[in-house]
Amino acid sequence: MTKKTLLSGVKPTGRPHIGNYFGAMKQFVDTQTVGQYDSFFMIADYHALNFIQNKEEMRSNILDLAIDYLAIGLDPTKVVLFKQSDISAHTELAWIFDTIVTMPYLMRAHAYKDAEAKDKEINVGTFNYPVLMAADILLYDADVVPVGQDQKQHVEYARDIALKFNHIFKGETFKLPEPLIMEHVATVPGIDGKKMSKSYNNTIPLFATREEITKAVMSIVTDSSGDVPTNVYNIHKLFRPESDLEPLYKEHAGKYKALKEALIEDIDTFIKPLRERRAELAMNEEVVLKILAEGAFKAKDKADKKLAEIKQTIGVI
Ligand code: ADP
Ligand code: TRP
Repeated sequence: MTKKTLLSGVKPTGRPHIGNYFGAMKQFVDTQTVGQYDSFFMIADYHALNFIQNKEEMRSNILDLAIDYLAIGLDPTKVVLFKQSDISAHTELAWIFDTIVTMPYLMRAHAYKDAEAKDKEINVGTFNYPVLMAADILLYDADVVPVGQDQKQHVEYARDIALKFNHIFKGETFKLPEPLIMEHVATVPGIDGKKMSKSYNNTIPLFATREEITKAVMSIVTDSSGDVPTNVYNIHKLFRPESDLEPLYKEHAGKYKALKEALIEDIDTFIKPLRERRAELAMNEEVVLKILAEGAFKAKDKADKKLAEIKQTIGVI
């Protein structure tokens, strides 16, 4: 029996945080362990180009994210790790989709509306973001796309675009992908209680040092209205079962400092081995670049075959 295909990606826009990990990246590793999918994990550098327009920063962010993928346990002998810009079929397919997707439809995207609320001079890349992401997913016939809640709408765009293409060109060219969202970690809160995000300055970095963990946890916003500091508890439950937390939070009711210290300890215990593994990998840049080159080779094979089929379907070859 052929395996189903799984694909996901992360933008190389800065240090990943525990929201990225629990919301999405942990599922990358967990599905690899079970082994039920042919998996592709991408460094979405062309998506990141909307935010990072500086050569040195882009280069080092790409390398950092490749190291992060390996440090969390992705194994290039089991899954394909690659960089989006290495496979030109992504942008080519995005153009084909541009010709069937309407502007009013893209104007309904949450990310576009948020960007517009902040700045009216939006670039075309931000507007077209969901189209390129649909191309990323549909080019590999992905069945499953593990992401956090904030990306759900983008996977729906991919489904809609697949349906529209199949309808216009009368066939079953594209499969309909499903998002894989873990409900209990769909939106991990940051230290201010809002969604944890690189853009909100409220993160606990995934590879944080003990000092960074301490600083972040000590700045978790607590309100003094009850015995249980909700924002501390909601982050703590990512690291320890709630059955363990209940007695701990009862014993230290109202003692926020003690509870924060317990959280620092638990986060550090979890992060320490990841941090150490990452430091080792970071010393071997050549090996990491080779892994990306090999990944590109495998991804290109699959993507180019699919693109040839699509080009026949639209009648250009
Ligand atoms: P950020 O919002 O920090 O820039 P990205 O857009 O790079 O994060 O997201 C990478 C992956 O992590 C996506 O699948 C996204 O849904 C997931 N993710 C990001 N923030 C969170 C969060 N706070 N909770 C759960 N998942 C998240
Ligand atoms: N838009 C995703 C994010 O911001 C990154 C991404 C790009 C992606 N292409 C993808 C995720 C394809 C899943 C599948 O997190």
